[in-house]
Amino acid sequence: MRIELEVWRQDGPQDRGRFEQYVVVDATPEMSLLELLDRLNDQLVEQGIEPVQFESDCREGVCGACGVTVDDRPHGPVPKTPSCRQHLRAFGDVSRLRIEPLRSAAFPVIRDLVVDRTALDRVIWAGGFVDVETGTAPDADDVLITHDDAEQALDFAACIGCGACVAACPNGAAHLFAGAKLAHLALLPHGRLERGRRARALGQVLDDEFGPCSSYGECVEVCPAGIPLAAVAAMHRERLRGLFRGKAD
Ligand code: SF4
Ligand code: FES
Repeated sequence: MRIELEVWRQDGPQDRGRFEQYVVVDATPEMSLLELLDRLNDQLVEQGIEPVQFESDCREGVCGACGVTVDDRPHGPVPKTPSCRQHLRAFGDVSRLRIEPLRSAAFPVIRDLVVDRTALDRVIWAGGFVDVETGTAPDADDVLITHDDAEQALDFAACIGCGACVAACPNGAAHLFAGAKLAHLALLPHGRLERGRRARALGQVLDDEFGPCSSYGECVEVCPAGIPLAAVAAMHRERLRGLFRGKAD
């Protein structure tokens, strides 16, 4: 397969950046998007050109590191799939691709396709954890959670922190990401202990670092983990609850 690539090159955070044209002549349908970039980089190194910087870690859809924008869509054309699991065979009759970083004011470009996503980390530092004295681990059977709650909590916990939802949102909102954390923890007994404090702290980071949510729903369309719009509703609900209850929890 011959694929013409338009790839965003940017030498550093202060550089204006530009698209560069490349051709990979020996791509195969089995290649993932990242393997295509690997192949391109082999070529560039052979030609003495600086390879394209991009992030990856697990390459199996778990870590959330690999997000890039492909033809204006965060992660790429295959729904519910992170960039590392997007395979060329699923792209149809493709001969051209434009690859650029995830675009959001909250994610400044560090170099080429690599963006700084520490704004998402600040959401987690504010409230994406449980901070209570738990003592020794109780017997699993002693902590009663309904099957439905456990399943729902797991569904929300599937968020891989990739940031595609923020990049897809016209407002640059992170409500899907933050709502997934709040909903997941609010459904479990140990998460309920700091429910109000968590929602208030996390909501403050959203106000400071991201845009407001206007319920466009673009976030859900690109989320590789299938986090539903109910997470956004949970975000609003938990935050309101936290404000009304004040220091009660
Ligand atoms: S909610 Fe979905 S798109 Fe947003 S960070 Fe989590 S996995 Fe990525
Ligand atoms: S490299 Fe880990 S999710 Fe893509």
